[in-house]
Amino acid sequence: MQNVLACVDNNRGAFVTQLKELLRIPSISTDPERAGDVRRAAQWMAAHFASMGLRAQIFDTPRHPLVYAEWLGAQGKPTVLFYGHFDVQPVDPIAEWKSDPFEPIERDGNLYGRGTSDDKGQMFTHVKAVESWFKAAGAPPVNVKFLIEGEEEIGSPNLPAWLEAHRDLLACDVIVISDTSQFGPGLPSVCTGLRGIAAFEIHVRTGSSDLHSGSFGGAVPNAIEVLTRIVAALHTPDGAVDVPGFYDDVQEPSASELASWAALPLTDEQFRETAGTLGLHGEPGRTTLERVWARPTLEIIGIGGGYQGEGHKGVVPARAFAKCSARLVPGMDPARVVECVRRRVMSLVPTGAEVEFKSGHGTPAVSIPTDSKWVAASARALETGFGRKPVFIREGGSISIVTRFVGQYGIPCLLLGFGQPDDRIHGPNEKLSLADFHSGVRTSAALLAELASA
Ligand code: BES
Ligand code: MN
Ligand code: MN
Repeated sequence: MQNVLACVDNNRGAFVTQLKELLRIPSISTDPERAGDVRRAAQWMAAHFASMGLRAQIFDTPRHPLVYAEWLGAQGKPTVLFYGHFDVQPVDPIAEWKSDPFEPIERDGNLYGRGTSDDKGQMFTHVKAVESWFKAAGAPPVNVKFLIEGEEEIGSPNLPAWLEAHRDLLACDVIVISDTSQFGPGLPSVCTGLRGIAAFEIHVRTGSSDLHSGSFGGAVPNAIEVLTRIVAALHTPDGAVDVPGFYDDVQEPSASELASWAALPLTDEQFRETAGTLGLHGEPGRTTLERVWARPTLEIIGIGGGYQGEGHKGVVPARAFAKCSARLVPGMDPARVVECVRRRVMSLVPTGAEVEFKSGHGTPAVSIPTDSKWVAASARALETGFGRKPVFIREGGSISIVTRFVGQYGIPCLLLGFGQPDDRIHGPNEKLSLADFHSGVRTSAALLAELASA
């Protein structure tokens, strides 16, 4: 084990150089024009796994490929499957980046670039840990599988069917995922829950086409006004969701979980500072951590309609739309939540307007029980990797497929995030701390030894 950790330490620079190669591939899964780059990232991963001595395969799906690799030479030992993703989010607004998002660059102990934290850099820690075991000890102490996909950022639409068709490849004792954050610098964390998500859109139509606002304005309905009244009515002014039934199935965190969160070192002012917002706003009577980890939300994520070009144009818009998503907590069913919202929206439609309500992808929240030998093993590994016992946190984000790993297949999952809350994932100037990357590789190397004896 000490040899393996020494190998990790000695190859620090080389690991980062290799990661930069992967980061240069603009594998944006939402952008159809980048499909070739998503494929190139899959090919890069598969070649990398093969060069390490794993059996690697690219699987095509109706949209983006995924990479599966395995080494099953540790007879009688547990099998660990690492899940992650090599697809990334779009880079707009590009003008706000201080350096090219796809030319990774080291600045002040951080590596900047799209995908550094979400998720190429974090995923790569496990690749390099397995490689270090091969180099320093001949082989890993457990069987290893990697399932690295190219559609996480679009909700993993094709992964459920792939898993059903390849149950044998999924077979494992534990799944390890690094696609979340630590609670803060120097605070290694075990994540015990993710929020789910349910997406939907509201489309308003008030007539056949936009009208001259002089000739018709004042005597006909305006689609944007109708839409904004509807979306405004989905919250109370003080920040709660105003949809009958929305909170019905919410499971509250236990008193001990709430007490452990209250002991975490974070003030509202620090949270606001990280967010870069002018203030904080949310459900009354709840702490900030409750609001992001244990309470559901209904967010307007985009709105459109009418004239958005230069100057002014005299129109009464006939159409307007809003894109929305709800974050879900344990107990909530995505379909039921969307149905509650749909009913509320339809009850708000005035005469002279039509609303089309479209429901999108949905996934329930995930809870990870903390009393397992796997979690205990991961806590010891984090202590080896980061030099400090981990704290137990939840995250407000979602990783679609984890719901199925846990709920449908009953496989224990470990969410060991090596990122930081201020990594700006999905935003401009995304970064990963190089120290966190290095400690992440050490943690993963130690984890393999811990899992071997767990
Ligand atoms: N790595 C994130 C999930 C995440 C974000 C975990 C923040 C913890 C904190 C993942 O890549 C992601 O962006 N997920 C999407 C899922 C969606 C596309 C279904 C999300 O949370 O919006
Ligand atoms: Mn991610
Ligand atoms: Mn993401």
